[in-house]
Amino acid sequence: MCGIIGYTGPLDSKKILLEGLSQLEYRGYDSAGIALCMENSRIQLVRHTGKVSNLKKGCEEISQVSHCGLGHTRWATHGGVTTENTHPHKAGRVILVHNGIIENYHQLTTDFHLEGKLLSETDSEVAAWVLESLYDGNPAEAISKLVSHLKGSYSFCMMFEDHPGEIYAIRNVSPLVAAYTHSGSFVASDLTALIPYTRQYFVVPEDHILRLTSYKVHLYDLDLKEQEPEILEVNWNMDAAMKNGFPHFMLKEIHEQPDALKNTILPRLAKGLPDFTDDQIPDYVFKDCNQVQIVACGTAMHAGMAARALMEPLLRIPVTVSIASEFRYEDPLVDDKTLVIIISQSGETIDTLAALRLAKSYGSRTLSVVNVKGSTIARESDYVLYTHAGPEIAVASTKAYSVQLAALYMVCCRMALVREKYSVAEAEDFMKKLLDSIPAMEAMIEKRDMVKALVTHLINKPDAFFIGRGLDYAFSLEGALKLKEISYIHAEAYAAGELKHGTIALITQEVPVIAIATQENVFLKTISNIREVKARGAFVILLTKEGMNVEPGIADIQISIPDIGDRFTVFPIAVVLQLIAYYASVGKNLDVDQPRNLAKSVTVE
Ligand code: G6P
Repeated sequence: MCGIIGYTGPLDSKKILLEGLSQLEYRGYDSAGIALCMENSRIQLVRHTGKVSNLKKGCEEISQVSHCGLGHTRWATHGGVTTENTHPHKAGRVILVHNGIIENYHQLTTDFHLEGKLLSETDSEVAAWVLESLYDGNPAEAISKLVSHLKGSYSFCMMFEDHPGEIYAIRNVSPLVAAYTHSGSFVASDLTALIPYTRQYFVVPEDHILRLTSYKVHLYDLDLKEQEPEILEVNWNMDAAMKNGFPHFMLKEIHEQPDALKNTILPRLAKGLPDFTDDQIPDYVFKDCNQVQIVACGTAMHAGMAARALMEPLLRIPVTVSIASEFRYEDPLVDDKTLVIIISQSGETIDTLAALRLAKSYGSRTLSVVNVKGSTIARESDYVLYTHAGPEIAVASTKAYSVQLAALYMVCCRMALVREKYSVAEAEDFMKKLLDSIPAMEAMIEKRDMVKALVTHLINKPDAFFIGRGLDYAFSLEGALKLKEISYIHAEAYAAGELKHGTIALITQEVPVIAIATQENVFLKTISNIREVKARGAFVILLTKEGMNVEPGIADIQISIPDIGDRFTVFPIAVVLQLIAYYASVGKNLDVDQPRNLAKSVTVE
């Protein structure tokens, strides 16, 4: 939520900031701005509402080269989408960009007598003025004092007019990474902006002050003692963050799923069994618990729902899934015998992070399933299982979902083995089927034109339903979310058997129903429910397995996935659901990768 970049060095900072902001745009795209440090310490601010492309046009007439600057792309929280509310904010000698929320900004406005000074409605400008009030020529000292006044989450990058060529940064919760290279020093909300310049970087630790000069990056604790950063190596290349000939990142990421699954599964296979030795997760983590609590948001939570439907009947212990923003205020029933599994692509989602901290305070063991290396959730969990999806740029999550599922399926299999619910042969068979899901996904990607053709029945409709039972219901939730977020068609997922208890009143000829029926044990029941909606005139798109007999007339369109075993149908079904949403969005000529009102990394509550 909001993308930040700072650069100081020999290169043209305007170019670097604008390119970096394009890479970070998925984090928010309401407005964007840059601040450039020019000759004689003059600061040039350029800010525009709308996408980074507007800002780029607005920067065309800047001919003077600057070697130090800050950039920001905004997802509006405090105050509307206006130029005044666009970052960077200038407060006296201070220039500041912010990602996060300052909760006590109102109080600070009063305490620091800022009425009359503020030009915007943002909490961020308040922070800039507080910093200006505390500043007496030593930036690091002023920043250290500033944070003692703040409540909330933030990553700030700052310049001070009387310290040309220097950039300062600090973070609490909201992410920041930094790097020093021969081309200068960089700081950004995430790696995608740094990757063209370096493969080595570090995660800025919370409550540490970063000082960038064109020669070096310095890190200090809040007592201003210099610290050594922990350097990490990027494990993907720039290609992963480019469209590479695909019209949209989302389509590219859908295609990347088979490889992403291989990357997540294969390094953890030992003699055909799941093995977490390299992840340093000992078996007692899986054995020594009497319940599992899964916590996540959005698509990651839906991966948790599917995992739950698999885990609970197999492990015979309670497995609960909670929405992180609910869990954290619930006084949850977790204890030292609960394995809490936290799922997050970014590893930065603020509610999920708060849920992790809460679970730890209850004494639970925490295992996170995270895609971004070194992210806060990964660092704070007792154990971490990295998914290897590579960077996911499209706001609508696709490959991150499949690899989260693959990781959770492996956890489930290992748990079943160590808890003696599975013999070695059963666990081997499970893993074999999990691997079979990779070609099954490929087969559905190959059939994309079939999906493309069916969306004509969706794109002119205001509403759609996704129905299914058991695991199929868990998949429906994700299918509906995908369709809503990128095609703006109102979509609801419903447990097929529950529809008749009121909601079926909404089914008319105008409401297409996407029915998922891949589970043998409830297949006939779901077919009965499909008959019920068909009888009300619904246009039915049925997703089922090859070999499942469906009488003519039950569905208007049927798509069959390869039969790889009921528990594993999620993988090919996910591809179909993602493609439905993708082609619906394309068919409506919408912004697939950056849908309205959304941002990829949600670092506000
Ligand atoms: C946002 C994204 C979703 C994502 C959710 C959780 O809403 O748009 O795609 O599923 O956040 O993000 P996380 O990074 O924690 O998986």
